[in-house]
Amino acid sequence: MIKIAVFASGGGSNLQALIDAQENGLYPKGQIRLVFSNVPEAQALQRAENHKIESVAIASKGFPGTREEYDQEILRLCQAKKIDLICLAGYTRIMTPVLIKPYLFKMMNIHPALLPKFGGPGMYGHFVHEAVVKAKEKETGATVHFVTEGIDAGPVILQGDVKVHPNDTPLTLAERVLKVEHQIYPEAVRLFVEGKIKVDGDRVKLSY
Ligand code: GAR
Repeated sequence: MIKIAVFASGGGSNLQALIDAQENGLYPKGQIRLVFSNVPEAQALQRAENHKIESVAIASKGFPGTREEYDQEILRLCQAKKIDLICLAGYTRIMTPVLIKPYLFKMMNIHPALLPKFGGPGMYGHFVHEAVVKAKEKETGATVHFVTEGIDAGPVILQGDVKVHPNDTPLTLAERVLKVEHQIYPEAVRLFVEGKIKVDGDRVKLSY
């Protein structure tokens, strides 16, 4: 059984998509064992509770130690629970190598754009869609990628396209991109659980 942890800081609609896919039997050999948040009031924690999944919150705001010490606590937690795969789902905290290295190619993130476009520092959530609309892009989308030390720079696992309409606002665009996120994230988890993702240098090779 591949034990999965999902990290979320906000509403957790991607977490919900992963839970729903699990309950619909998309990855019978994987199980979400832990939902972690750096925001104790995140709605994602409630979603975990609704599905009887263990949830843990450690407030990053006001945490008394360094960023590394914060990540060390999370690492201890994940190792104690023998977590095999971490899925970042709207987790807004930048991680340190303390957590990234032990989970290299075992930690995924979903990003609301077609990376490498519209990624990097400060590019998250609504900021991404604002930038896409401002740049008058004709197409955007969502990307699932492995997490490496460069922000939004790890090998791409799956992408899904979304057309940008001339009258789109960041809000209308976000809604359509989110729908694609909810399709590609569970699919990426399925591929991981089934051992169908291989990393070759800085590229991912999928076998279906
Ligand atoms: C999603 O759109 C996700 O792609 C984005 O935050 C949103 C979280 O929504 N993540 C990033 O921007 C990471 N760089 P959710 O809480 O409803 O899943």
